[in-house]
Amino acid sequence: MTKRPTIALSYHQLCAYRNGKVDHCFLSIPCYSTLHTHTQIGIFHLSSSSESRPVRKSSNIAQNTMAGSGELLEKNGEKVVILSGASRGIGLAIAHQLLSNSHKLVLLSRSHAALDQLHYQYGSDRVEILAGDLSDFSQNFAGRAVDLAVSRWGRVDALVVNHGTLDPVKKIADLEPGVGEWRNGFDVNVFAGVDLVRAAIPSLRATNGRIILTSSGAAISGYQGWAAYGASKAALNHLAISLAVEEPLITTISIRPGVVDTEMQREIRDVHITANKVMSEKDSEKFLGLKENGGLLRPEAPGGVIARLCVDSGEKGRALSGKFLSWNDEALSEFQEDSEDAGAAS
Ligand SMILES: NC(=O)c1ccc[n+]([C@@H]2O[C@H](COP(=O)([O-])OP(=O)(O)OC[C@H]3O[C@@H](n4cnc5c(N)ncnc54)[C@H](OP(=O)(O)O)[C@@H]3O)[C@@H](O)[C@H]2O)c1
Repeated sequence: MTKRPTIALSYHQLCAYRNGKVDHCFLSIPCYSTLHTHTQIGIFHLSSSSESRPVRKSSNIAQNTMAGSGELLEKNGEKVVILSGASRGIGLAIAHQLLSNSHKLVLLSRSHAALDQLHYQYGSDRVEILAGDLSDFSQNFAGRAVDLAVSRWGRVDALVVNHGTLDPVKKIADLEPGVGEWRNGFDVNVFAGVDLVRAAIPSLRATNGRIILTSSGAAISGYQGWAAYGASKAALNHLAISLAVEEPLITTISIRPGVVDTEMQREIRDVHITANKVMSEKDSEKFLGLKENGGLLRPEAPGGVIARLCVDSGEKGRALSGKFLSWNDEALSEFQEDSEDAGAAS
């Protein structure tokens, strides 16, 4: 009797719109089997009579076991990276930097559409996506992300824990009883990160891999209303310190990305300074002033450093394990790129 292969399917669909109407749809169905990997791709143009017409009918891009294997990727200098918070801001910049250099990524965030866009732009041979709230531990996103990387590409070379939330932004005296608000913030910023790290450790040991944690200056400075956020980032810094001791095969570095022009900064200005007035006058002036005076960094500046650092395997990078470093620290000079990364300092 022939042994049937185990098959797992995931499915992505993206529709392009022209003049407000669906112009064409892109369907991608990667199929993982115990025998080989196929990616079925179909692009359907929709005519004005709304009949769908396949223009490239289910072309089969077969990737044999060798082509999809970790050994071949290593030979080609291609790395497999799991990246959280990839839908926008710093994470999106990291994703573009890595994908434009042919690395393979498993992307995580809640916003499905933003991840689909990356999948569409770079193709299913380079991108896998897993959309959902990382603090919903019943979904086992951490285990699934690692399984996806390994089943698809045979290895994990790096994990970037980049997702994050500022919430709750409140003075400690104003918190609801029961610390549920802090617990929610820690679920996202700390525990989801710890869970990703836990799940990735066995694979990262095998590749002498990297863990990069996106931390913050708030880990070591006080801002009114940011106690939960700052404490969660301090916890990430300690996670790096502990991993450097416990996991000598893996290099773990915590990065302070500076003050970056992302949705998080918009939220600080519009919600926490202007609407809710939670922040102090001094801090409000600082963040409003940075925006007004063009002092915010482009996400590509710290994002580029994180991207280069996570796919590096050199001794200099390895010597930084356990450290908390600013993106523009002298110790990271070989990962900084002058022209591309030019932006205001924080
Ligand atoms: N911007 C700054 O000035 C600054 C300064 C210091 C540190 N940082 C740190 O840099 C990292 C990136 O921040 P950013 O500035 O790029 O902010 P951002 O634009 O708000 O991006 C945050 C990312 O995290 C994801 N995310 C948030 N909650 C999530 C959840 N529960 N589950 C899954 N994904 C979640 C978001 O995706 P979805 O909304 O799609 O889930 C998004 O991709 C964060 O860790 C932040 O703390 C930023």
